[in-house]
Amino acid sequence: MIQQKASEDSESHWLAATAAIDWDVPPSAALGTSGRWFEGAALNTCHNAVDRHVLDGRGDALALIYNSAMTSSVEQFTYRDLQQLVATTAGMIKACGVGKGDRAIIYMPMIPQAVVAMLACARIGAIHSVVFGGFAAQELAKRIDDAAPKLVLTASCGLEPGRVVAYKPLVDAALALARTPVRHVIVLQRPQLQAELQPGRDLDWAVSVANARAEPCVSVAATDPLYILYTSGTTGVPKGVVRDNGGHAVALCWTMSAIYGAAAGDIFWAASDIGWVVGHSYIVYAPLLAGCTTVLYEGKPVGTPDAGVTWRVIEQHGVNILFTAPTAIRAIRREDPLASLLAGRDIATLRALFLAGERADPETIAWASAHLNVPVIDHWWQTELGWPALATCLGLGDREARPGSAGRPVPGYRFAVLDDAGQSLEPGAVGDIAIELPLPPGCLPTLWQNESGFRESYLDRHPGYYATGDAGFIDEDGFVHVMSRVDDIINVAGHRLSTGGIEQVLATHPQIAECAVIGAADPLKGQVPVALVVPKRGIETGAEVLADELVALVRREIGPVASFKSAIVVQALPKTRSGKVLRSAMRRIADGEPCPLPPTLDDPETFERVVQALRDAGFPPPKPQSLSEQIA
Ligand code: COA
Ligand code: AMP
Repeated sequence: MIQQKASEDSESHWLAATAAIDWDVPPSAALGTSGRWFEGAALNTCHNAVDRHVLDGRGDALALIYNSAMTSSVEQFTYRDLQQLVATTAGMIKACGVGKGDRAIIYMPMIPQAVVAMLACARIGAIHSVVFGGFAAQELAKRIDDAAPKLVLTASCGLEPGRVVAYKPLVDAALALARTPVRHVIVLQRPQLQAELQPGRDLDWAVSVANARAEPCVSVAATDPLYILYTSGTTGVPKGVVRDNGGHAVALCWTMSAIYGAAAGDIFWAASDIGWVVGHSYIVYAPLLAGCTTVLYEGKPVGTPDAGVTWRVIEQHGVNILFTAPTAIRAIRREDPLASLLAGRDIATLRALFLAGERADPETIAWASAHLNVPVIDHWWQTELGWPALATCLGLGDREARPGSAGRPVPGYRFAVLDDAGQSLEPGAVGDIAIELPLPPGCLPTLWQNESGFRESYLDRHPGYYATGDAGFIDEDGFVHVMSRVDDIINVAGHRLSTGGIEQVLATHPQIAECAVIGAADPLKGQVPVALVVPKRGIETGAEVLADELVALVRREIGPVASFKSAIVVQALPKTRSGKVLRSAMRRIADGEPCPLPPTLDDPETFERVVQALRDAGFPPPKPQSLSEQIA
């Protein structure tokens, strides 16, 4: 069985998988003794994702379909079109002095040029770092300081429902905040908004690319970084997850057939954003490595214009595999509970719906299964891993799924659930979810210029294992059930946020003495951040005004993506006698879970007052109707 082969003889399993990739220097060993995958081998990821399909005679096959619900437009690019665009964009980037090993930050909306820019960096061996457009200037500045890029690629604006988001002022503000100077900013002017360019530093994309020379693919070491992707850590400092070229290409290409059952020519739609790992892996690299057509969708699942847009896009392009976050399905279901907008749509091409990014509640899976009539598969992974670690592998003939579980380990991953002392727990017992080392190819080898942070964050907690930061259990049949985080990371609409990071921002408000941020259950977004804030003594600002200021502060400092809307003003925070804030008790109250008075509680009256304040603020929110109630 392939599961066993991959775990017991991972060397031959992964060496066999290298055959799907073109190499300049083929690997002679998979992991070997070096501890790095495919050390000594050389390749180019862009060649594998683009050029080789043209060389193989598939130049006229569709590589990319851009479907924008925001501008009501569709553009299609063949592999040959993509090759030409990527080669000249690589020339434009190179002309800015960016070469092998240099970093370029891409801060762009969901437009084809963003994908092209990523591939163009890969083409010349530059390391891209894409920053999600919903992050504010301060967050962009942190990433600029860490990655020290020579170049920032951006667009004049992003398009959100009801508003045009000007990106360039955010880039300007980030560059003013950052300590690291950046030589050039290349700006794609979208018709919806013209950005002002700073002479000498800023360049117009269209002009620059028109004057650029087409660049060939350069050979890079399999162990050279392809990209850095920042993700939330437990503090406000983002962690720069490094992805190497060789392991990434091999693993991602393999997942397309093994997990998704997709082959060259299939239409693959990952409805995410290129700023997240799902976008990197399954909008850009994996579908193109496998010769599929990838769909780049600019819009939301609801409201652009309605909850039927997902079905329309599937029908319009003949999508075979859809990948989205459970939040998107919850949003569609909330707007159109009986899926009436599906009526009359021909979505017969769809073979499966994959969900990831947050816990998929069984109700959401049941609703999607009932209406789509295809396998609905929950699968689990993280930015750090780069590809799914738990899944039902359709391509390997696996069909068994279990509600409440994200699946069994994907070949190459060996899971364990450990107690605090690092002992492996029996089936059914809840503990830390860990993965036995070595991690398979494509997973992070380190954090960008922070090897000690990498060890501290992931390897030190359980020697011999990678600590996922999630808690859960493995059942008798080997299904892994992911239940919660063990740290203060929360998951908002599939976006990973640090409550500690939000607390750090709130604490900068001059009128705040203390604060605690919890992730409260939300029927749409899974979780939302809720702050309990204590004003300094003698502050006379009204609670509502203060709350509004705090909401605006988080939006300004972290960005709208934090979805921070609830700041509850209280006179004191509930604490243990040793002074620890009782965040998990507050979270249970906000979620409507039973929460007896904690035994170590310092002051029961404060506790009761905070419980009341949460209730007054509408927590817990009313439970949404179940599927059976809705149908009734
Ligand atoms: N640039 C600027 N702002 C952005 C942005 C971007 N690229 N992406 C999101 N935002 C803003 C939104 O406009 C919104 O601002 P608002 O508070 O002014 O309304 C805020 O960030 C939160 O955005 P979002 O999380 O998208 O929530 P929403 O309320 O606009 O939409 C859903 C709700 C459920 C439709 C939406 O969250 C969704 O589609 N989720 C799918 C999940 C997903 O793709 N996850 C990716 C990981 S797989
Ligand atoms: P990110 O790195 O942003 O992809 O977030 C990874 C985290 O999201 C994981 O550690 C989990 O906490 C959560 N997550 C992702 N997929 C799932 C899933 N299928 N079920 C439960 N939690 C998930």
